[in-house]
Amino acid sequence: MTTTPRWRAVAAATGLLAADGTVARTIFAEMTTLAARTGAINLGQGFPDVDGPDWVKAAAKDAIDAGRNQYAPGDGVPELRAAIADHQRRHYGLDVDPDTEVLVTTGATEALTTAVLALTGPGDEVITLEPFYDSHAAAIAMAGATHVPVPLTADLRLDAAALRAAASDRTAMILINTPHNPTGTVLTRAELEHVAAVARERDAVVVSDEVYEHLVFDDARHVPVATLPGMAGRTLTVSSSGKTFSLTGWKVGWVHGPAELVTAIRTVKQFVTYASGSPFQPAIARALADDDVPRELAASLAARRDLLCDGLRAAGFDVVVPQGTYFVVADGAPLGFDDGHDLCRRLPDLAGVVGVPVSAFCRASSPAADALASRVRFTFVKRSDVLRDAVGRLAALAELR
Ligand SMILES: Cc1ncc(COP(=O)(O)O)c(C=O)c1O
Repeated sequence: MTTTPRWRAVAAATGLLAADGTVARTIFAEMTTLAARTGAINLGQGFPDVDGPDWVKAAAKDAIDAGRNQYAPGDGVPELRAAIADHQRRHYGLDVDPDTEVLVTTGATEALTTAVLALTGPGDEVITLEPFYDSHAAAIAMAGATHVPVPLTADLRLDAAALRAAASDRTAMILINTPHNPTGTVLTRAELEHVAAVARERDAVVVSDEVYEHLVFDDARHVPVATLPGMAGRTLTVSSSGKTFSLTGWKVGWVHGPAELVTAIRTVKQFVTYASGSPFQPAIARALADDDVPRELAASLAARRDLLCDGLRAAGFDVVVPQGTYFVVADGAPLGFDDGHDLCRRLPDLAGVVGVPVSAFCRASSPAADALASRVRFTFVKRSDVLRDAVGRLAALAELR
């Protein structure tokens, strides 16, 4: 008997496995190639077009020159673990032991994947919101666990009843993401109370992907689920320097939580990458002590969000204004496009802009994928002049109406 190789499960879980067994490229690769071929402005892939601060880059260069070029300790360098614990105390009042409760990882992605691998397996169910970040589904498939997605409501909020209905005795983990990619939803304390209640009822671990923790706008506040009563003991909080400091290519992330859960993740992580980028860690330790950079980024992103949202509305899209992240979800239905994927393929010709369909963040043909079929995600983490150019181009769509 042959077993199905695990990579096929990963491809299937992320919508990349075709019926004939071939593997498609991710939607991000497809749309980025399309943008390059057509000269369209790429608002599909979410990475900044301006690098993080020079002084943080200089700190990494200094670390290289100072000889910090061999393996870092597997847990992460002490000054970064201390900076992470201090950051969590300063911002959220969380009491974190840097020696036993923090693990530095190769981006949030490694923290998330090794957490799922360490703590779940065949027979276990892992709940996520839907739409979900694709690496969450991939990690669950790698672990051989069962993915149970809970669709957001039509206005892109947590559906507490659906969450409760999705939970079972097999629920080993609830993997949430706030602020949420792709929708920009920032879960409120009340919504997180529902997550916490279900986790307690089912004795499940909560993994909270908080990579956009500082990118929140208006009066929205980021609330780590670990700060809710009784939740620190069952929550793994994951974050990363990539989004906060516009250094996505450095891949410095981390996870913190109860020592026994962090030990479980460390056990897996040490055989995945062993250690993460030595010279970048002291630089991020210095960056994390600074609250001005993330505050200024959030303020500038709020203005860029408004610029893009206004432009999308003027072009004829319906827009759900995001409270966080650097993404906005726009509905192409008022423009006569019921299929977001089709719209994304045609958008370079129609308006010289690229986005990604929200259905790519859902399971194929799921109720959420159907409900969100006409929605497209655009990023606003691009320079204002680039966004102004994009908005000018999108105006051509208004004539289609
Ligand atoms: C929700 C979410 N989690 C994790 C990541 C990956 O973070 P990192 O680059 O630190 O691995 C991303 C990147 O886009 C993301 O959107």
